[in-house]
Order: sequence, then C-alpha cells, then structure tokens
Amino acid sequence: MSDHDLRDFIDDVAVIVKDTDDENEITRRIAARLSALLAGDYRIPAELTRPSPEHHLNYPLHIAADNSWCMVAVVWSPGQRTPVHSHETWGVAGIYAGAEHEFRYVKPAADGTGRPLTPAGEQVWRAGQVTVCCTTDDDVHAVESVGGEATVGIHVYGGNIGTIRRRSYDPATGAVDWFVSGWDQSPALAGASAPRQA
Ligand SMILES: [Fe+2]
Repeated sequence: MSDHDLRDFIDDVAVIVKDTDDENEITRRIAARLSALLAGDYRIPAELTRPSPEHHLNYPLHIAADNSWCMVAVVWSPGQRTPVHSHETWGVAGIYAGAEHEFRYVKPAADGTGRPLTPAGEQVWRAGQVTVCCTTDDDVHAVESVGGEATVGIHVYGGNIGTIRRRSYDPATGAVDWFVSGWDQSPALAGASAPRQA
C-alpha cells in the first residue's frame, strides 16, 4: 500500500534523525532507506509531480513537526536548470522519474574571495538511483533536468529546506547571494513566485 510505504518511510527517517548527529551516518542510512522506497510501490500523488514552465518546483511531502528534517518532491520541466546553490544542511536525493545531470563544486571556505568555484565532478542520475547530495561542508551543486521528460526527485533534507537561508553562487566569480526558496503548493500558484533552488 502506497500510503503505508510513505508512513513507514517517515517513521524510519524520524528514527534515524533522532539516533545521531553524524551527518555521514544519517545520509548513508537515509540513502539506503530511500533506495528501498523508490524500488517499492510508493507513488507520489499526481498533483505533486506536475512541472511548471517557469522554474522547478518544491512540493513538501513531509515536514517534521520540529523542523529537524523534511521530504520534498522536486519537479523540473525538461531542460530546466537550477543556479549553483548550497543547502547548508545534509541532504539525500533520489530520482523518482526522468533523469538529472548534477554539477558539483567544492564549497569555498570563505565567501567573496573573487575566485571561481572549483568543479568537483558531474554525473547523470536516473530513476531509482540515490545520491547523498549534501553534508553541511560539501553541499554546492547545480542540477539540470535531462533526457527530454520531466524529472521528479524525492529529496530528504536536515531541516525545513523551504525556510533555510542558503547561498546562490556565480561559479565564475564565487560571488554569493543569499536566498530562501520557500515552498510550492500547487502549479497554479507557482508562476507568481521567485526561482526555486532545490
Ligand atoms: Fe540542490
């Protein structure tokens, strides 16, 4: 049962997050659990997989009552790409549908050095795959929807990602802008809001 799968996942992640403060352990255990969720019968409600022509969307699937973690359906139209951005917490990303091309960068030790960001590898992730996108000290990337169809990811973050103050980078200069992504609740509302950076 799909609803049971989601509730079991939420229960298991809540236990993992309470067990330890070690981000490497948390992300390793959640990545394994998210792989199992993607391999099972869970289906995201259809209204939370609809892309917007404006920019990618962040639909909340679950936000812990204490804001210690959240689960997001991130939806891109084909070809949409995020700016280079940080998360300022841990994160695990699984591909539910479509494919995404991730471009990673070394997180600068200080802001505003005037130096370009250092690329740290890139990879295409496809449906069923899971990656640890972030720990607080290694959390800078851009993501592009590739493959000609909408991309849907299930992301789990350490905090309420829609409210966290995060960095957006110009990779050519290292210049930083701070942003708060907010949340999307329905495609009908999305056109009026600012670009999202999941
Ligand atoms: Fe991201």
